[in-house]
Amino acid sequence: MITWLRVAEPAASSPASGGGRGVEQPTTALINRTFVSNLALAEATGSDMQAITVDRFLESLRPTQEQRRIFLIALELPEGALPEGLPRDPCGFSTVPSTGDDPVWLLEHEALAYLVISVPLLQDTSSLWWQVDLDAEFLPLPGERYSPEAERILDSALGVLDEVAAALHRTHLYLWNTVGAHCPVEEAPLPAFLASRGCHAVHREAQYSIEVERGNHAPEAPDIEAKGVSLILYTEDGCPEHALPALCQLSDTAEWDIPAGDIQLEPSPWTPERIRDAERIARAGGHRSISALLIDEDGAGVALSTIAQHRSARPEIAEQNMTVVARNYRGRGLGAVVKKAALAEAARRWPRLRRVGTSVAVENAAMNRINESIGMQKISQASAWLKQAPLRTDGELGRA
Ligand SMILES: CC(C)(COP(=O)(O)OP(=O)(O)OC[C@H]1O[C@@H](n2cnc3c(N)ncnc32)[C@H](O)[C@@H]1OP(=O)(O)O)[C@@H](O)C(=O)NCCC(=O)NCCS
Repeated sequence: MITWLRVAEPAASSPASGGGRGVEQPTTALINRTFVSNLALAEATGSDMQAITVDRFLESLRPTQEQRRIFLIALELPEGALPEGLPRDPCGFSTVPSTGDDPVWLLEHEALAYLVISVPLLQDTSSLWWQVDLDAEFLPLPGERYSPEAERILDSALGVLDEVAAALHRTHLYLWNTVGAHCPVEEAPLPAFLASRGCHAVHREAQYSIEVERGNHAPEAPDIEAKGVSLILYTEDGCPEHALPALCQLSDTAEWDIPAGDIQLEPSPWTPERIRDAERIARAGGHRSISALLIDEDGAGVALSTIAQHRSARPEIAEQNMTVVARNYRGRGLGAVVKKAALAEAARRWPRLRRVGTSVAVENAAMNRINESIGMQKISQASAWLKQAPLRTDGELGRA
C-alpha cells in the first residue's frame, strides 16, 4: 500500500536571523529528493544549470507570507506498519522531520516518490503548483514511457493532490515540466502521462543562459543618455524612495503584460507599501538581488530588469527573473539596454557569478530576440500543465 507522509515544514526565516538559521542538518528525505530531482532535470536537459542544492530545497520549504510548501514522500508500507503516535499535520498526514536525525524506522524504507505542493497565499488563491519526482529506479530510459509500476505511483500522487486541493479549496493545479531545448514537449514521459489523465498544456516557456564575463555586458553610458533616460541601480536593500512610483508603474505593466498563456493569474496593483513588503519578504527569505531601473526626465518608469539569487543557491548561478519596458517606450531597444545593465552590475557586485539563466514565453518574440541578441543560449523548454480539480466545500480530508 502506498502511504504518503508529510515532511515537516522547517521553521520560518525571520528578519532577525538575516534569513539564516544556523546549522540545520536536512534529513535523508530532503537529500534524496534533491538528488533525484536534479538527476531527472539533468537527464532531460543535458545540463546541471538548473540543479539546486539541498540547502536551497530546505530553504524553499520554509513558510513565508506569500506561500507555503507541502512536501510529501511516498512509501510502500504494509497495513499497520506506520509507527503509532506520529504527529499529524492540519491536512491529516502523519509527519516526519525535515531536519535533525532521521527516525530509525524510516531509514528502513526507500521512498518511491516525492511530491512538493506550493500553495500561494496572497494572490492566485484558487491555484497551487506541484512537482513530482519518482525515485531513480522508476525513471524511464531515454525515449521510453513509464512502467506500470511508475504509473501506479503517479496515479497515487494525483489522488493525494486532489485531496490536498479539496482541503485547501484549490481548483487549478499546475505543474512545470522541463525538457531539452530541442525535444518534442508532448513526447516526454510526464506530459504523455498527464495528457492520458485529462491534464493539458496551458503555457510554454524557453530557458536561456549566458556566461557572465566581467564587464562584457555593460551598455555604454552615452547609449543610455542618448535615449533620454537615466539609469538607477540598486540591490535587495531597496529601491530609492524617489523611484518608487516608477517601480510601481513598471511592476503593474509586468503583471499585466508578461505572457502567461492560459495560466489563471490575478494581477493586483503595486503600491509603495507592497513594494516595501516584497523587499522585506525577499530579504528575510535570504534573497539578494540587483535591479536596473530606467526612468525618464519626468521620473516616469521606462524599463526594469532584475537578477536574483538565494543565499543557499550555487553562488555561480543567478536568475534574471523579470524584464519589462513601459508600453510607450517599446520599440527603441531599451529591453536589451536594461537587461545588459543588470547583468553588468551583477557581474561587478557578485564576483563568484558565472552564469545567469532566464525563462520566457515561447510566443514572446521581442524577448526571445533580445535574449539571443545579447548572446544568451537556449538550454531547455518548460511547459505548464493544468489539472482541474472540482471545488469541494467540505474542507475536510477525512484521512484515516
Ligand atoms: C519584451 C519587452 C521587454 C521588449 O521591449 P523592447 O526592448 O522595447 O523591444 P523592441 O521592440 O525594441 O524589440 C526587441 C527586439 O525584438 C524584435 N521584435 C520585436 N517584436 C517582434 C516580433 N513580433 N517578431 C520578431 N521580432 C520582434 C525587434 O525587432 C528587436 O530586435 P532588433 O533589436 O534585432 O531589431 C517588452 O515588449 C515588454 O515589456 N513586454 C512585457 C513584459 C515581458 O514580456 N517581459 C519578458 C518576460 S520577463
